[in-house]
Amino acid sequence: MNIIDIIEKKKYGSALEGKEIDYFVQGYSKGEIPDYQISALLMAIWCRGMNKEETAELTLSMVRSGKTIDLSKIKGIKVDKHSSGGVADTVSLPLVALVAANGVPVAKMSGRGLGHTGGTIDKLESIPGFKVEIPIDEFINIVNKVGGAIVAQSSELVIADKKMYALRDVTGTVDSIPLIASSIMSKKIASGADAIVLDVKVGKGAFMKKLNDARKLAKTMVEIGDSVGRETVAYITDMNQPLGDAIGNSIEVEEAVNVLNGKGGKRLVEVIKTLGGEMLYLGGKAKSSAEGKKMIENAIENGSGLKKFKEIIAAQGGNPEITEDFSLLPQPKFRIPVKAEEDGYIKEMETEEIGKLAAFLGAGRMKKGDKINLAVGIMLPKKVGDFVKKGEDIATILSDDREKGKEAAKELLKLIKFSKNPAKPLPLIYYKISKEGEEKLFNE
Ligand code: URA
Ligand code: CA
Repeated sequence: MNIIDIIEKKKYGSALEGKEIDYFVQGYSKGEIPDYQISALLMAIWCRGMNKEETAELTLSMVRSGKTIDLSKIKGIKVDKHSSGGVADTVSLPLVALVAANGVPVAKMSGRGLGHTGGTIDKLESIPGFKVEIPIDEFINIVNKVGGAIVAQSSELVIADKKMYALRDVTGTVDSIPLIASSIMSKKIASGADAIVLDVKVGKGAFMKKLNDARKLAKTMVEIGDSVGRETVAYITDMNQPLGDAIGNSIEVEEAVNVLNGKGGKRLVEVIKTLGGEMLYLGGKAKSSAEGKKMIENAIENGSGLKKFKEIIAAQGGNPEITEDFSLLPQPKFRIPVKAEEDGYIKEMETEEIGKLAAFLGAGRMKKGDKINLAVGIMLPKKVGDFVKKGEDIATILSDDREKGKEAAKELLKLIKFSKNPAKPLPLIYYKISKEGEEKLFNE
């Protein structure tokens, strides 16, 4: 076999065989095939696509490129969750606590933010003392003792994804359904969960801008999961505007605590309850996802989710007092209000650009390895459909640099579109996709 023939074959649109896929995945992971040939192949895949069998073969070959985690020492059905990436997507922190509080163990491996999207691991690092790099045995012990833990994904897992993702990032080949599906699912399969709940984002702030593409991506991932015996359920949720009110790191931890205190924003809380309800169902603790949703709601109301969050923080070396005193989290030097320049309804938000603006302030990274500032970001409590009065505060810029902050405040106003006529609020949850098929959950 040789790599040039494989590139040519995909270039002309033929399906690759399992052994050809394995040849390039293992060859690239071991450093035997150079970046330039894999770049050409990735572009051919971007243009020609991959069928269901090829995508499944690609995923499993990627899993074999690194170590895999054995979670069998954790009792019960382990359910993992993954978001395809968004802005103000403060779901995982409260979700892990609320699911664990209901008795389903969550051994979660998360990533860092990249580009306009935030990452759970960065957010957690704003908690003083919190350790995200924990040896696997200790990670398992914490889950057994406390019920949940969130750590950074080990660098030994899915070597192929690490190399291919970095290459895709610089070759314009990120937004390909088979490449995204195999990237996400290989990591979920390698990290050992029995069942997987996926939050596939769609819209202006997501990788998938169109609903039909998001449906296809979700369906592809559900099929991959089921083909390897890991029941997978996907929800397609809106990312046409930031999901929560906070875009940053410390401020997203604050928002997570607010959710657990029953003070979270409606849309963010609804996504958490929906995904959590599904996790409790797949984890065998609820008779239906609707019953699971009720249980998540109860864990917010009775405080057991917050209690669990504190236990997880303490078990991972962090200071649980941050949940009572936010001043213990990194704080910005400047808070700059952004005022509406006219009366009107919020009609649209350029969500990806808003995420990039938070990164410009230092909250995110434009390339891998960039250092981030945990204190800065954007508070944007308004949503599409809201009416605002001229002079009213619509957002706050948190910055350590006054000039940069002022520039961001001006820029943010350009990213929010107003209208004199009432604007409809955006739908939130579009579809549920599982092995039973597709369920539509919104009105057009
Ligand atoms: N998230 C991933 O983990 N991989 C992708 O390819 C895109 C989003
Ligand atoms: Ca975020």
